[in-house]
Amino acid sequence: MGFTSSLGTIRDYQDVSYIAVPLLITEGVGAISGVIPTELAGFDIPRRLGAGWLKSNGISDKAGSSTVLRSTTGVSIILVSLGKELSNLESWRLAGASVMRIAGTEAVNFLLPLDLLNAPGACAQALVEGASLSTYDYKTLDKECSLFLVPLDGSVPNPETLSEIETAIEDALTATDLVNWAKRLIDTPPRDASPRKLAKAYAKRLEQEDNVTVEVWDEDKVKAERLGGLIGVGRGSNEPVRLVYATYRPKAGENVPHVVLVGKGITFDSGGLSIKPADSMMTMKADMSGSAIVMATLALCAELGLNIRVTAIAPMSENMTGGSATRPGDVLTIRNGATVEVLNTDAEGRLVLADGLTLATETDASLIIDIATLTGAQRVALGDQIAAFYSTSEQVAADLEKASQATGELIWRMPLHSPYNASLESEIADIKNIGAGGGGSITAALFLQRFVGEFPWVHLDIASTSRAEGGRGYLSKGATAFGVRTLVHYLSEIASKGSLPTA
Ligand code: BES
Ligand code: MN
Ligand code: ZN
Repeated sequence: MGFTSSLGTIRDYQDVSYIAVPLLITEGVGAISGVIPTELAGFDIPRRLGAGWLKSNGISDKAGSSTVLRSTTGVSIILVSLGKELSNLESWRLAGASVMRIAGTEAVNFLLPLDLLNAPGACAQALVEGASLSTYDYKTLDKECSLFLVPLDGSVPNPETLSEIETAIEDALTATDLVNWAKRLIDTPPRDASPRKLAKAYAKRLEQEDNVTVEVWDEDKVKAERLGGLIGVGRGSNEPVRLVYATYRPKAGENVPHVVLVGKGITFDSGGLSIKPADSMMTMKADMSGSAIVMATLALCAELGLNIRVTAIAPMSENMTGGSATRPGDVLTIRNGATVEVLNTDAEGRLVLADGLTLATETDASLIIDIATLTGAQRVALGDQIAAFYSTSEQVAADLEKASQATGELIWRMPLHSPYNASLESEIADIKNIGAGGGGSITAALFLQRFVGEFPWVHLDIASTSRAEGGRGYLSKGATAFGVRTLVHYLSEIASKGSLPTA
């Protein structure tokens, strides 16, 4: 069953092990809303907690910091900080994660003081989102965790607010179920997540959705379609390549914007003959993150019934060192006819994406977005909490940044500095697959740009944010499926506007 959440009432606390009480911290002092009972399960709940007490109990204005008033017989109380303002959604996510970390598989009643909340739905949604994301654990698929939200008002909460919160809970669960689905596939050992197996898993999940169609292209089809980048990368592996082509078309969606998503689907990246050092290979099962992210995004758009067309394309291959592997110096011909001199077989992502992006340009896309664990250089530039993005449209860049701020998945725009194209020039082909002179994430982006023509385009390089090595906040250890929530947020804004401005 995993994580569940629903509305609860304060009287249900015999059935839970924990009651969580949110604190607002101003100038070091903690405030508790007047609508929260002054006595809970035998504990006195003061309205004000002094700086000294907070400090000695490990609570600060850092959202999610918390302390537990332990009861050995009955219900324990979790006091959890929401920081300095109650409207910051990231703080609610962190608080959700914090209480679930304390409670484990015990149930929690989280008290929501409606008198202090301007947007109770949004806060509830973020709380449940953080809680649900934080309970993901590859090893314990069936771990049961539950969080009850208990809205409190001076008197009886109004029914509209209650149903707003109920909807918020549903939306959070819908989203995080798909994010956690993607994380599980990303964390799956690479032999169990080969291109064949993964393509099957994507198709199986997407076929559950209304208005979604999925095609899985096998190796013959990929060859017939002249996807020379994908074939070239797949040559070193015994596992045949696949390409997943999925579309979501809303019922009444005739003249709606069409966004085409392309996700890198390297199910294991050994580097190929330009082989990686052992340590760098350990996490390379996650090099298919982009593919899982675009599939989860499309499924979520379908579940939410967004009024927008979405196509998701995932070229999938292993990058291995077999006897037929592409050699440094070989030339591949991409679907659009461009020839690429492969000088480093470890720069494989851009080769499969070149084919994927070419397919995207053969649609009537209003916008093309690709997402890929593309370069180690991205981590050097931005560290492991911020992804890089590139955009040919100012408007889309601004809208996407806004979406990212709303979801807490941080992105930073990097320049498509065209003079660096010089370093991609090849003596024997149209282009080579590695740049020179640093800026490795930028030269990778410039490589990709060759394959999108004049289409409005965004590229997300999520190499560093695709995994959370130690776990942090509401990110559990391992895969993050970074980008699903931001892309869906962005797409839902476009869907409700009904148009996609790309100036
Ligand atoms: N999959 C890697 C990038 C990567 C590195 C993802 C670390 C996640 C964590 C990609 O295929 C790669 O190997 N890139 C090379 C490119 C280089 C050879 C131009 C890199 O970044 O070293
Ligand atoms: Mn590589
Ligand atoms: Zn790779």
